This record gives sequence, structure tokens and C-alpha cells, in this order.
Amino acid sequence: MKRLPYNSPVTVLALETSCDETAVAILRGNDSRYELLVYAPRLLDSAASAAKIAPSEIDVFAATSGPGLASSLMIGASIAKGLAIGLGKPYLAVNHLEGHLLSPFFDIEKGGGNDIKPHLSLIVSGGHTMLVLVRGLANYQFIGRTVDDAAGEAFDKVAKMLGLGYPGGPQIEKHARGGDPKRFDLPRSMLGSENFSFSGLKTAVRYLPKVAERRLTQTPCNLDEEMLSDVCASFQQAIIDVLVAKTLAAAQKHGVDLVTVSGGVSCNQELRRQLREACSRKGIEFKSSEPWLCTDNAAMIAFAALLRSQAGFQSQLTREIDPNLALV
Ligand code: KG4
Ligand code: ZN
Repeated sequence: MKRLPYNSPVTVLALETSCDETAVAILRGNDSRYELLVYAPRLLDSAASAAKIAPSEIDVFAATSGPGLASSLMIGASIAKGLAIGLGKPYLAVNHLEGHLLSPFFDIEKGGGNDIKPHLSLIVSGGHTMLVLVRGLANYQFIGRTVDDAAGEAFDKVAKMLGLGYPGGPQIEKHARGGDPKRFDLPRSMLGSENFSFSGLKTAVRYLPKVAERRLTQTPCNLDEEMLSDVCASFQQAIIDVLVAKTLAAAQKHGVDLVTVSGGVSCNQELRRQLREACSRKGIEFKSSEPWLCTDNAAMIAFAALLRSQAGFQSQLTREIDPNLALV
């Protein structure tokens, strides 16, 4: 494996197409500084021209190789491989979950992301809810995952039940503000386990009196604003309680002094606040991704590719996409 000296900057073009959008980012960095030349959703051409960078200046072409939708993953990987072949540069397949997991270390101002300290990572997105023990870059141990719905999926499904739009997380967070999180006694499932389950919580919301009535009569949302606020606040708090309790228990069990959170659900301000407070009570450092890096984006894939390429990783051009790609 060829290691690049840490101080030589590497320029990465990365595509993220795990779901139904195509996003491109170009990132240049070494161990002390990053320059996000462009973070352009959708267009490859505009990425290169906005970055004022010639294709020949790109050192590595990266793409998400899974998990995600096969047809979408195929597009990003094919483009990155085609560019790598055409320009005679390496190709790097990146696991979407590793993109989320590393994103709390992506600090454009301070740099220093090469130092992935041992920590416990909570990944909470629309497709995944996972606890991972990180010993360093590419050195991951699986701790727990959801046995049914992902946290974000629960937010989306409950929002739909309440007649709120998609994605549900931001809608529920908005309506939860000012609501009473104790008004409805909703279940906190599987607290004794390192795995998660959110489908019982979703069902419990479905059978709350006014919510059930709305479903049975097929009428539009007839909850008054106070009731809606209280349902949202109670539901959000049930999810947060479970995420905080399990993350803290795992952090203590595995003796880590740093906890990170990433993925779309980590945009949630209340989750970030309560996790930060719980960590600080136990003397554990806490890091979250910047809000723009929480939901799916290509910059996190470029960042993961940059760290991996500096550590000497490269992928075979024959490497296939894998819709069920595991992190560990
Ligand atoms: O990471 P992401 O963009 O896509 C996946 O990899 O799945 O996560 C999307 C999920 C959606 O389920 C969305 O409802 C949730 O993240 N989400 C939130 C918030 N913003 C987005 N959940 C709770 N609170 C938020 N503010
Ligand atoms: Zn994601």
C-alpha cells in the first residue's frame, strides 16, 4: 500500500448517489487544512467549473458504493470509475455510512481530521440507526443497530400519520417546540439491549386517541395546534431518551471518552443538546457534524475518500456497488 506523506494535499472529486439525488463535491486537503472547492448538488460540470479546477488536477475519483438504491449507486460509481479510467487516476469506493461516521471530524476551518480518535459513533439517518466503536480510520466494531425502523424512518412515518410533510424530522422538530414532552407516555423500547427498536413507538403514536380517529375517518389532520405540539414533543423525546440512554451506556461500557453523532436525524437540535449534556455529565467529549453535513451530501464522501486516500487506500475498478454494503 502506498502511503502519501501527510502534508501533501490530495484533491478528491466524490459523487454521492446512494438515494435519489446526485451530489458532487471537490475537496482538497492535507492534515492541517481543507478546502472545499465546491459542494454542488446535482451537476458534475458545474462542480468542476465552479471549483475552477481542471479534471487533470483531481488526484482521486470517489463514489458511494453502498448501502443505497442499486440503480442510483450504479450511476455515481460508473461516473467516478469512468473519470478514473479516462484520466488515469485511482478510484475509491466509499461506504455511505463511513461518510456519515467521519463527518463530525470534518472541520474546514481547523482541519486535523486525519486524527480519528477512538470513540463511539451514533449514526442516525433515514435508513440506519447504529452504534459503532471506532478505533481509528477503517477500524470499526459494530455495537448495535435497529431491529426494525430507523430513527429517521420513525420521524418520517409519524409525521405522515400527523399529516405533516416529508422529510418528517424537521417538521416534527418544528411542531415539538413549545410542546409538552411529558403529556403522552410513549414507550422507550429495548433499553436493556445495545440494539434499537422504534416500531412500537410508532404504533403507540398511531393509537393515541385523536391520531387514531384521524386515521379511521381518513380526515385531514384535525389535531389542534397544542395537541399536535404535544404529540410531536412527546414522540421526539421518546426517541431522544432511547438514543441518549443507549449511547451513554455503550460509551461507558466500552470506556470511550469521545462520542460523536451523525446522519440526518442529528440535525435535530434537541437531540444534539441532550446528547451533549448527557456526555458532559459523564465527562465525555461530544462532537456532532455541522448541520449542513448531517443529511446526505457529497462533501462527507469526499472527506472520507480524502482520509482513506491519504492512508493509502484505493479500490479496484472491478469493485461492484453493493446496495446492502456493511460498514463492518
Ligand atoms: O442522512 P439522511 O439525509 O439520509 C439517509 O442516509 O437516510 O437522513 C434523512 C433522515 C430523514 O428521515 C429525516 O426525517 C431525518 O433524517 N431528519 C431529521 C431532522 N432532519 C432530517 N430527523 C429529526 N430531526 C431533524 N431536524
Ligand atoms: Zn445518509
